[in-house]
Amino acid sequence: MRLLSSFVLVAMLGLVASTPAPQGESTGNPACSIWLDVRDDMQSGLFNGAKCENGVHKALRLAFHDSIGFSQSLTASGQFGGGGSDGSIIEHSAIELTFGPNGHLEGIVEPLRALAIKHGVSFADIIQFAAAVGVANCRGAPRLEFMAGRSNSSQVSPPRLVPGPGNSVDQILSRMADAGFSADETVDLLASHSIAAQEGLNSAVAGSPFDSTPDVFDTQFYVETLLKGILNTGPTTGFAEKLSPLPGEFRMQSDFAIARDPRTACRWQALTNDPVLMSQAFRAAMVRLSTLGNDRSTLQDCSDVIPIPNSNPSPPTLPGGKTEADIEASCPDTPFPVLPIAPGVAPPIPPVAV
Ligand code: HEM
Repeated sequence: MRLLSSFVLVAMLGLVASTPAPQGESTGNPACSIWLDVRDDMQSGLFNGAKCENGVHKALRLAFHDSIGFSQSLTASGQFGGGGSDGSIIEHSAIELTFGPNGHLEGIVEPLRALAIKHGVSFADIIQFAAAVGVANCRGAPRLEFMAGRSNSSQVSPPRLVPGPGNSVDQILSRMADAGFSADETVDLLASHSIAAQEGLNSAVAGSPFDSTPDVFDTQFYVETLLKGILNTGPTTGFAEKLSPLPGEFRMQSDFAIARDPRTACRWQALTNDPVLMSQAFRAAMVRLSTLGNDRSTLQDCSDVIPIPNSNPSPPTLPGGKTEADIEASCPDTPFPVLPIAPGVAPPIPPVAV
């Protein structure tokens, strides 16, 4: 009897230990345990209790700006092409944060530097980890992959590898192609601008978001970027700023142009009413972006430490007061999808606290 109960107990313990926990409460890989502590520390401090707000937005932007320092053409010409997702934006912040497109990132670089040192993990890993954990705090987001084990030693990224909002579509697509991303993947990655706002392009309206729902990972960014621009968000026009369709919303030149360019407009439109495609395509592109310049076979898969994001029950809509006539449809072969119109007139969109 005693033997039997010990057996049952051991079996039960085994079962408990091997059952994957929801919300990433434990990890199946002992080498990943350290990341449970880092995650809890990050969620309670940097992300203000697991919220989808400015800290998360900045962490995701930082992950892009670290990784995109990777150029196949520079390498092919015999120069240093950058280490990709190598943590150089933290290790060499004194230089890289002077690059024009890296403005307003110091507020995330310093807390992540401190967290990495405190927990003894690499700068490169903490950047991608913060993006994955942070994105999981946003309703509707995919649960991103997290691979651990990037080196903690990097060289300064070559300059001019981070695309800017004043760049032409040609410049952006060729820069992204040089890092290994197709035009479709570039559009897919811009799903990030669904949980995003600006600070540096027009400081008079710092915190103005790129869509009406900056705390939800949803397709509204793709929908609203195609609406006719009718107003200035602030008292003056900022750098690379285009007219916005909605009070409080900010539209940057590059998003405006990519939404309407023949090479990217049909992918853009396909994402306006397909949250599943948006989520899956963003996840797939982030798998590649987050490990650029690394040998994946040397990394450990610690994705089960990443929380499981809540779903977003709200369907894509046209903002209240707009109709399909306000859409600048730019994919000639496919009609713009019919979307429900939100009731009433859309109220001004409040700024994100920055
Ligand atoms: C490809 C061309 C891209 C351009 C030209 C671009 C440009 C910009 C600019 C100018 C801002 C505003 C920064 C500020 O004033 O604070 C911004 C914000 C942001 N970007 Fe991008 N971006 C691009 C792609 C991406 C990608 C691929 C990601 C991530 C995967 C990303 C993530 C973000 C996020 C999350 C923010 C919001 C930051 C915040 O709210 O503080 N961007 N981007």
